[in-house]
Amino acid sequence: MPHKSAVRTDYPRIITAPPGPKARKIIELDREFSSPSYIKEYPLVVAGGRGAMLEDVDGNRYIDWMAGIAVSATGYNHPKVVAAIQEAAGKFLHICGTDFYYEAMARLCQRLAETAPGRGKHRVFLTNSGTEAVEGAVKLARSHTKRQHLIAFEGAFHGRSYAGMTLTCSKVKYRAGFGPLLPEVSHLPYDNPYRGGDPMAAARRLFETRVSPKEVAAVFMEPIQGEGGYIMPSQSFVKAWRDICDEFGILLVFDEIQSGMGRTGKLWACEHFGIEPDVLLTAKGLGSGLPIGAIVAKEKAMTWGQGTHGTTFGGNPVCCAAALATLDLVENELCANAARMGQRLKAGLLELQRRHPCIGDVRGVGLMLGVEFVKDPSDKEPDTDLVAKLEQLAFRKGLLLLSCGRAVIRVAPPLVLTEHDIDAGLAILDESLTELGR
Ligand SMILES: Cc1ncc(COP(=O)(O)O)c(C=O)c1O
Repeated sequence: MPHKSAVRTDYPRIITAPPGPKARKIIELDREFSSPSYIKEYPLVVAGGRGAMLEDVDGNRYIDWMAGIAVSATGYNHPKVVAAIQEAAGKFLHICGTDFYYEAMARLCQRLAETAPGRGKHRVFLTNSGTEAVEGAVKLARSHTKRQHLIAFEGAFHGRSYAGMTLTCSKVKYRAGFGPLLPEVSHLPYDNPYRGGDPMAAARRLFETRVSPKEVAAVFMEPIQGEGGYIMPSQSFVKAWRDICDEFGILLVFDEIQSGMGRTGKLWACEHFGIEPDVLLTAKGLGSGLPIGAIVAKEKAMTWGQGTHGTTFGGNPVCCAAALATLDLVENELCANAARMGQRLKAGLLELQRRHPCIGDVRGVGLMLGVEFVKDPSDKEPDTDLVAKLEQLAFRKGLLLLSCGRAVIRVAPPLVLTEHDIDAGLAILDESLTELGR
């Protein structure tokens, strides 16, 4: 259930065609001095938010179906999260958790260790970001197994550091020009039930011809792929990799940075498959927007020695307070809300699919739903142009969307989403597709 004061319906509201005059000034300033590498999907200039609503500097209000890329799990300023942050900030802003102790860090490690899927004891290393969690997991896997080779999947996104970028295989622009990348990394096909194929054939070939499975340190898998197109693989695919890892002593690392923290209606996405990882990575929603992530590993896998790995800011006390408050909300109410609202939203999207044949596939679970657009449902050719136009048009009508994959809208709203946010958003999507002649 969203917190009571958030159940309001005074949005979407477009009073000035965006970007309005105040937004244009800020965009101009930003463009003058910020790095040209930033993407900026559309000219949204945020002034504030509430629940799953964002307001821009010119007073326009939008329904948010993207949560700042699947981050704002509890909405934009949940009173319980804000109170926890304020209380922690009033005590001390920082002490390095790598070198000293404080209660919030100890409690968050305990909490994450105890919620980790799977039997046995777990241990936790706190980070600043998802990428830092991936980077640390690569180090952990190599030092624990004393092997070098890593396997990741086509379509994967694991971050932008050298290890993260090397494991990433979703868009060539993330890698081009930055080499040499990390050695000893293989990419294999991910299971895509909409497009079919045998994703394990290439794995068999890899092990027969190029890499001995006995030399593989870890398999990095998003149990539901994010940036690659919000793809939910089959249970048999995830299980096949668990079995290979068990047989050859390989660590199975689940990157749940986008899919975890209640987004799918269960705390961890891998619970949908009944498969446990050896190492689980989380970030994004964990701090409701404050920068925090974690490596959650089985105790028997977290064998690196004292002082071998550390971080200055990871597990900062204010971020830990935000994460503890977020976990309370997610476990007590938002997971259930994500499951319930996810059903309503998916049913609405499937209904739209019946009227708009350009929607080739509606997939996913909870509030991690992918809508794939195609030129023609019979040959499934991705309609990239349509998705780009749809994103811009929906924005101008008051609905915030974000694409992924080749032609997919990733629906990843805050977990406080209400029925109003769903119904009004679906109406804008419907109207936009009709206006685009699709
Ligand atoms: C699955 C996954 N892994 C890793 C990352 C990198 O996380 P961050 O941007 O916090 O460094 C992302 C970010 O989008 C992600 O979706």
